[in-house]
Amino acid sequence: MNTEALKKSFKDLYQKEAEALFFSPGRVNLIGEHTDYNGGYVFPCALNFGTYLLVRRNNEKVVRFASTNMDLKVELTLDKLGELQPDGAWVNYPLGVIDQFAKKGTKVEGMDLLYSGNIPNGAGLSSSASIELVTSVLINDLFGGKLAMMDMVKLSQDAENQFVGVNCGIMDQFAVGMGKENHALALKCDTLKWEAVPLKLDGYKIVISNTNKRRGLADSKYNERRSECEQALAEMNTEGKFETLSDISFDMFNDLHSKLSKEVLLRRARHVITENQRVLDAMKALEQNNLAEFGQLMNASHVSLRDDYEVTGIELDALVEEAWRIEGVVGSRMTGAGFGGCTVSIVKEAAVDRFIAEVGPAYEKRTGLKPEFYIADVGDGARRLE
Ligand code: GLA
Repeated sequence: MNTEALKKSFKDLYQKEAEALFFSPGRVNLIGEHTDYNGGYVFPCALNFGTYLLVRRNNEKVVRFASTNMDLKVELTLDKLGELQPDGAWVNYPLGVIDQFAKKGTKVEGMDLLYSGNIPNGAGLSSSASIELVTSVLINDLFGGKLAMMDMVKLSQDAENQFVGVNCGIMDQFAVGMGKENHALALKCDTLKWEAVPLKLDGYKIVISNTNKRRGLADSKYNERRSECEQALAEMNTEGKFETLSDISFDMFNDLHSKLSKEVLLRRARHVITENQRVLDAMKALEQNNLAEFGQLMNASHVSLRDDYEVTGIELDALVEEAWRIEGVVGSRMTGAGFGGCTVSIVKEAAVDRFIAEVGPAYEKRTGLKPEFYIADVGDGARRLE
């Protein structure tokens, strides 16, 4: 991102220089999908691209929102900041964060804001969590919020759940807030116990491939999957022993699944329970420098998301299948919520060009869609830059 050009855009728009610059990354999840809202394990990392935010306080009792990515500009007086804007406007993400800070007693003052992101929107790389966290860090810094990053992570999830109305888990906000350069983050989502694990990928690259099939989280089947998991838990939890599906080990599941009323519930629960084990195995494989094993677990994760959880679809499946064919690919799977969006692959550095040259046309031939590829570097979480 050319931040000098961005500063110029700010000045052109507001006729004054910005006073501070903040940044928050996007994220990619390496393994552990649809486990976060089931209290399970996830293993994401923060990317080196994300959302930049320039600000200047204005003493005018109005907040002006603009973005280089969106046409919509919004200007609201301070007393109107709690009002949801129509038509799923992008400003609802920052407004949700402002609303949550207000509930904790931190009120913003008048300011002019310019957002600018280089995360493809709606691609499942957490552009929304990135907007939330960059806004959180700004408010905390300029208006004396005094919150620790983990509190801002939770606050941003609350903003998305309560204000925007998307019932997401905590993985995205966590990865975007707590990201660490060249590390993946192992998080247990019920206790929020976590550790940063060095990503030893010498000679390999993380390649993100975008199906360019857009997916809307809110109107997708995301909430349906959540309630299927809740139902599966309730039906197996007749003795009240479990808080979440992730409290059920695979052995216990073998004894319990006969209680489930529908085969589809068995498959949903089986995905969550086996995926948790795959995350633990993948972390161990990484620690032992066994990338081949790590890749096999990624592949198995995709198969489980395809067959048991049914959140892939023809585009994600085609992109992953074409990646699996390429020599030098250790593993490839869908990442994020699914139903479109991106895949993540670990590819030998020397094979990356061939990967792009061969997977691209093969995918296009099968789906009629042009994919995009990003070579991801793993960066730090949300922060003030200047
Ligand atoms: C989306 C949600 C996350 C998580 C993933 C699936 O990215 O925002 O909370 O549930 O889907 O793993």
